[in-house]
Amino acid sequence: MTKQLEDLFAFLRFASISTDSNHTKEVHACAEWLIHKLSEMGLETELHQTPGHPIVVARNHHVEGKKTCLIYGHYDVQPVDPIELWDSPPFEPEIRDGKIWARGATDNKGQMLAHILGVEQTLEEEDELPVNLIFLFEGEEEIGSPNLVPFMKKHQASLECDVIAVSDTGMVARGVPTMGYGLRGIACCEVTLTGPSGDLHSGIYGGAVANPATAIARLVASLHDSEGRIAIDGFYDDVRPLEEWEHKMWKDIPGMSEQDILNVTGSTELYGEPGYSSAERLWARPTAEVNGIGSGYQGEGSKTVLPAKAIAKFSFRLVPDQEPKDIMEKVKKHFQEHCPDGVNIEVRVGHDGKPFYADPHSESSKAGQAALKAAFGKEPVLIREGGSIPIIQDMKEIFGVEALMLGLALPDCQIHAPNENFYVENFEQGIALNRALLKELAK
Ligand code: BES
Ligand code: MN
Repeated sequence: MTKQLEDLFAFLRFASISTDSNHTKEVHACAEWLIHKLSEMGLETELHQTPGHPIVVARNHHVEGKKTCLIYGHYDVQPVDPIELWDSPPFEPEIRDGKIWARGATDNKGQMLAHILGVEQTLEEEDELPVNLIFLFEGEEEIGSPNLVPFMKKHQASLECDVIAVSDTGMVARGVPTMGYGLRGIACCEVTLTGPSGDLHSGIYGGAVANPATAIARLVASLHDSEGRIAIDGFYDDVRPLEEWEHKMWKDIPGMSEQDILNVTGSTELYGEPGYSSAERLWARPTAEVNGIGSGYQGEGSKTVLPAKAIAKFSFRLVPDQEPKDIMEKVKKHFQEHCPDGVNIEVRVGHDGKPFYADPHSESSKAGQAALKAAFGKEPVLIREGGSIPIIQDMKEIFGVEALMLGLALPDCQIHAPNENFYVENFEQGIALNRALLKELAK
């Protein structure tokens, strides 16, 4: 195994699950490992404690006149459950079929470490970098980056940069370099419906009082009309229509045909807002998704109960120019108005993040595209992303610079799911990409 893969394996062995307080120690240990790795490379490092998980900053020796490039990444990972569906333990990385299998392999440790190792290689071979570099790594991306905006504002002067680069998004297909110039925003909430003061016998009382499970089903169903459009009042008001050139450009992006989407999702039919292709639905249209529903008896066999309570968790993916806070007001109003009679409703608002949109024809975006071409030997495709990295638009606004999404995640990398994986080939291309990127940005 190469030294670079050994580094990746060491990084992947930390169970840095940010959402689970049982893993706080491992999140911190993972940050310490990064500090150690980055200092060993000769970078100046800083470990910043926050009310949550630590932020890691590293820089080379900055020189007047060079461009400053900030590379962002996250070392936290998603939980691993359902653990029984993993073919190998999530925090014991292994290589099978040309891929590295582990939680975080793609999202985001593999992609992030490729940048670090690209820098290491350049420093070993050339002694210095063509740019002033700032690495900014956080341990809370998967929980909505609650401490990063205050951190960036507090340390703004020392983080000022000319461009931001991020590898935490996708490639549309294997071997197809992909430049992302948009991300969807997100707004989350949780609804609790309560009915009777405790679970009831569904025969003795069923029919005489409202059932919260039925009520939550009606509430979930009220979010869309019968054709798949979102039925919340004013939800689409601020949606920026997709541009004609995007409509044309996205017609034949590799990996995005109807059949491709069916294959990768395992669904038997496509479904979504009428009048749009899958690429358009994913990259330029907002959604309302229920992420979880809970109520009543879930065990074996049957139990005749009228549950006292029901919950559902929701997330809304947003596009320019929708504002998360404004959308959440509209959502809350919708839930209040559509709550069936006979139950009480409580809406708990969760984390959010703004949609991100960049100009794919800017100087820095062109440099990013040239780097992708150099690393992959092919012209990149230009896409927006369906996923979210809530902090990117904030970074863009705080530093007033462009952000480049140089994603390396493949459609079948299974991020957030069992058997997450990252092609060894992608890891190596990621290292080459970093080297090409710093050169292109310096021009
Ligand atoms: N790396 C992903 C986002 C991503 C993946 C964007 C693939 C585009 C393509 C990121 O780590 C992520 O999962 N973000 C969460 C954000 C949420 C937890 C606030 C998401 O999109 O659900
Ligand atoms: Mn993720």
